[in-house]
Amino acid sequence: MVFVSLKDLLPEAKKNNYAIGQFNINSFQWVEAILRAAQQQNAPVILASTDRIVDYLGGLRLIATTTKKIVEEMKITVPVVLHLDHGFTIERCKEAIDAGYSSVMYDGSKLPLKENIAQTKEVVDYAKRHHVSVEAEIGSVGGTEDGVTSGIKYADPNECYQLVESTGIDALAAALGSVHGPYQGEPKLAFDLMKEISDHLQAVPFALHGGSGIPDHQIVKTIAYGHAKINVNTECNQAWAQTIRELLTNNPALYSPPDILGTGMKAIEKVVTEKIQLFGSANKAAS
Ligand code: 13P
Repeated sequence: MVFVSLKDLLPEAKKNNYAIGQFNINSFQWVEAILRAAQQQNAPVILASTDRIVDYLGGLRLIATTTKKIVEEMKITVPVVLHLDHGFTIERCKEAIDAGYSSVMYDGSKLPLKENIAQTKEVVDYAKRHHVSVEAEIGSVGGTEDGVTSGIKYADPNECYQLVESTGIDALAAALGSVHGPYQGEPKLAFDLMKEISDHLQAVPFALHGGSGIPDHQIVKTIAYGHAKINVNTECNQAWAQTIRELLTNNPALYSPPDILGTGMKAIEKVVTEKIQLFGSANKAAS
């Protein structure tokens, strides 16, 4: 398999106090830009398509097949995970696994705990048979992602322990004050709860959603408190949009797609490079 799973990367990252970046795909140019940065930094990387834009991107099979081909054609040697972000349903997670994803997130965070556990477990049982990793969420990440807005609901530590112990997930997304999209002022992450949960679940890597816009010193602290996977989408998209906006404003006669879109890709590459360095995953791919 071209792709590795979270199981191959996160325990090692957690043990050595660094995190692997998950960067969301918004077109196949994102795939290329993210991979170029990861390869250049010799860093393992997680490419993710959030379930809400899977259809816009052409469907699960097209994403898996095209991404695999890009990895091969670019001769990428660093470990790459292809992950379904915020899988809506059990069926959707199974379809992603069948299509060739090496990791899925089942997001049952809006369900009562019992149902979240039962459904997550069903995904885990299916995923295990295919050597695919599973992430699940407790609480609610705030903000807006792909047009859907949610409020923050802090994860309850006991619910986190029950979810992990009853399902055997590979990564826990415990919502602790982070938001998707831009923050209003300084993020208010619940570091006390984060430490408590991390002390209890020492062997379980955590996934941080809403990684854009969190100050560097807070990111370093989230890694110290068990986060081995940090999700970034908004900052790549903002850099892409701002660069292209400036280019077109300064060059009103410009219409060449390679010039316009190529500039956008370089902006994504720069953000990914900076995040990899901040997360400490540079040079963590086996040589
Ligand atoms: P941001 O868009 O805030 O970076 O969050 C990304 C994310 O958590 C994807 O699930």
